[in-house]
Amino acid sequence: MKVMKLIKKATALFLTVGMIASLAACGGASSAPAGANDQTADTQETDAQAADAGTTVSAAGSTAAAETAAAIDKIVFGTNAEFPPFEFISSTGGAIGEFDGIDMAIAKQIGDDLGAEVAINNIEFDSLLIALQNGQIDAIIAGMTITEERKESVDFTTPYYNATQVMIAKEGTDITKAADMKGKNIAVIQGYTGETCVKDLGFDYVSFKKGPDAIMDLINGKSDVVVIDSATAQKYVNDNAGQKLVIIEDNEQFANEEYGIAVKKGNTALLNALNAEIEKMVADGTVANLADQYAVAAE
Ligand code: ARG
Repeated sequence: MKVMKLIKKATALFLTVGMIASLAACGGASSAPAGANDQTADTQETDAQAADAGTTVSAAGSTAAAETAAAIDKIVFGTNAEFPPFEFISSTGGAIGEFDGIDMAIAKQIGDDLGAEVAINNIEFDSLLIALQNGQIDAIIAGMTITEERKESVDFTTPYYNATQVMIAKEGTDITKAADMKGKNIAVIQGYTGETCVKDLGFDYVSFKKGPDAIMDLINGKSDVVVIDSATAQKYVNDNAGQKLVIIEDNEQFANEEYGIAVKKGNTALLNALNAEIEKMVADGTVANLADQYAVAAE
């Protein structure tokens, strides 16, 4: 079957790219090795897309009649709704059912524009990539940083948001840069790029399942510092106003990260549709407006 061939091809490709790409460095996209490695990966992705031409794979990953481009009538987005302001559960109702946040509003808008039904599957962050590969979900929208390592197993849309890792500590901390975390009790969230960043620094750390657990550990004085994405850090600091938490940046150590929506490798029909949507929403200011709106919105 054509699909099987494609899958085999994708697997072979994935191995090749995997061997060529060096370890994902902290900071995702912009700290990726420049030059030959990048070019190799890009060329191979383009080849994979060319190989896909003519095969129509529906959003759900099932084969549609190869001749006609199937309309996308349903998209199951996987997320991990523990990452405000991008995704969180709202007791008063959100953009999609109980799910609210920047990503959820983007997903809703995509559904409206494409005339597709949109469903949210809320799972653990570090199970998202596997769920996508298994076909349990069609796409991941989860404030997910585009990294070389993740690109080995999934395809990403054009970026829609820029972030960076930051440190959260208690007021009065002597931490002024990433290197100052040496010897401190460092908290990260399991599977987040912040974990990779601390690992790359060579420091020991404790990894928590959820952001609020790490923040609680900081508030209780067990952890000295939490490393997490900038907008989420700001949200936690605002939400715990009485706790006198501060954000410390180190833009030299923590490079720019870009968030993208991930689809199963080779699902070009969905990738193209999402890219068109994302490009439009970035260009017309929709994403920036949502970011402003949710940064201040009470949960
Ligand atoms: N940007 C970070 C990463 O890609 C953290 C994302 C966490 N997202 C979430 N929905 N819990 O690793």
